[in-house]
Amino acid sequence: MNSIVTGLQWGDEGKGKIVDFLTEKADFVVRGQGGNNAGHTVIANGKKYVLHLIPSGILWEEKTCVIGNGVVMDPVGLCEEIATIEAQGVSVKAEQLLISDRAHVVMPYHKELDAAREAALGDSKIGTTKRGIGPTYSDKANRCGFRLADLFDREKFVGQLAKRIEDANETLSKYGLETFTVEGVLAQIDPAFERLRPHITNTIPVLNKANKNGSTILFEGAQGFFLDIDFGTYPYVTSSNTTSGGASTGTGVPPHAIQNVVGVCKAYTTRVGEGPFITENQDISDYLHGIGREFGATTGRARRCGWLDTVLLRFSCMVNGVTQLAVTNLDGLDERETIDICVAYDIDGKRHEYPPAVSDDWYRAIPVYETLPGWLEDTTGCRKWEELPTNAQAYLKRLAELSETDLGYVGIGPDREQTIIL
Ligand code: GDP
Ligand code: IMO
Ligand code: MG
Repeated sequence: MNSIVTGLQWGDEGKGKIVDFLTEKADFVVRGQGGNNAGHTVIANGKKYVLHLIPSGILWEEKTCVIGNGVVMDPVGLCEEIATIEAQGVSVKAEQLLISDRAHVVMPYHKELDAAREAALGDSKIGTTKRGIGPTYSDKANRCGFRLADLFDREKFVGQLAKRIEDANETLSKYGLETFTVEGVLAQIDPAFERLRPHITNTIPVLNKANKNGSTILFEGAQGFFLDIDFGTYPYVTSSNTTSGGASTGTGVPPHAIQNVVGVCKAYTTRVGEGPFITENQDISDYLHGIGREFGATTGRARRCGWLDTVLLRFSCMVNGVTQLAVTNLDGLDERETIDICVAYDIDGKRHEYPPAVSDDWYRAIPVYETLPGWLEDTTGCRKWEELPTNAQAYLKRLAELSETDLGYVGIGPDREQTIIL
């Protein structure tokens, strides 16, 4: 059975940890969207690893990791990431990490254009990770991007690159930002491309043949549902489809090959970057930051925090077709006397069970809360459902009921072992 692990909130739900945990039973671990805007944390064997482009299955040496066609790939960033995890003792051989020749390349000027767009937006900036994600996906949609395969035809590539750099420089000089030359870009791209060349291949037949032959594929989502370009809090979103549907177009594996959808959410809610966040709460934010939690894995920014929002979960579970909920960070609520759950929104006196389409409505929405008693016990040592405090079980059951989905996993700590299977 093939599964996808997908984020149900605004990213950073703990997908990396769940993917690493589920990799034991998989043969292939595949990313299909996003780029190194992602930061997936895995803690195993007493070490902490943060993965950005490399699938979180890489810690299992005998498995094959794949960066699919739908990913936007920063070759320079990927080389740095490989070097970092190799220095931590992880092997990244060519046969362990395959990269789709159809993946679009994040060029140095894309990162600078990301900064230019943010500067142009001023107070309405998105709060991007500045990894060039939006501009690279824009070029892809605009049919002027570069795929890895294009870099093999040197002459054609260099000719087209000159034109693209000219366009980019026009925008960048308006904002007084760094401009580029063909030589300068090639000096950055060429060594990285050479380093990655043995990994680049047509991954689509590899995955489809593996599926036909009975291998198990685990799809690793990046970002989260409300950062999805179609379903998220547009325009405060990322530039890809983060939902389970995106896994198929992002990897070339047909939808019917994905039977299981693991939706990951925290026991509360967090968000990095700008945009509406209805259950945001200063008290819980201060509390979580105070105990050293909720700082971004990619940019180090303090994440905004709030209570669990089941209006979000109901919608993201429905659209993703979630079959199993993985609730992480339950232990983050261990010391709270009472816990609020948002069950609906009140917008101009009307009750809403699903989120509205327009960001402006989000800003006017008032959360309707139910308050549950906390458990005031340390859950980090629990390994079975029966070992969880009764109030923690009641909280999880209510969460699942309001999300209209079944519970599959509970996380009570960042370690691989701190996972309860239901
Ligand atoms: P991802 O982007 O969805 O992979 O999530 P991140 O790695 O960006 O952020 C999740 C954070 O929560 C990381 O620091 C994880 O180590 C941590 N984490 C994941 N699950 C749990 C859990 O159940 N309990 C605790 N305490 N930390 C967790
Ligand atoms: P993982 O995979 C949390 C957010 C940014 C910003 C918006 C757009 O670790 O869950 P972008 O750089 O993508 O153009 O930024 O999306 N964002 C994330 N937030 N986790 C992520 O990834 C994110 N990737 C992008 O903060 O608000
Ligand atoms: Mg993250």
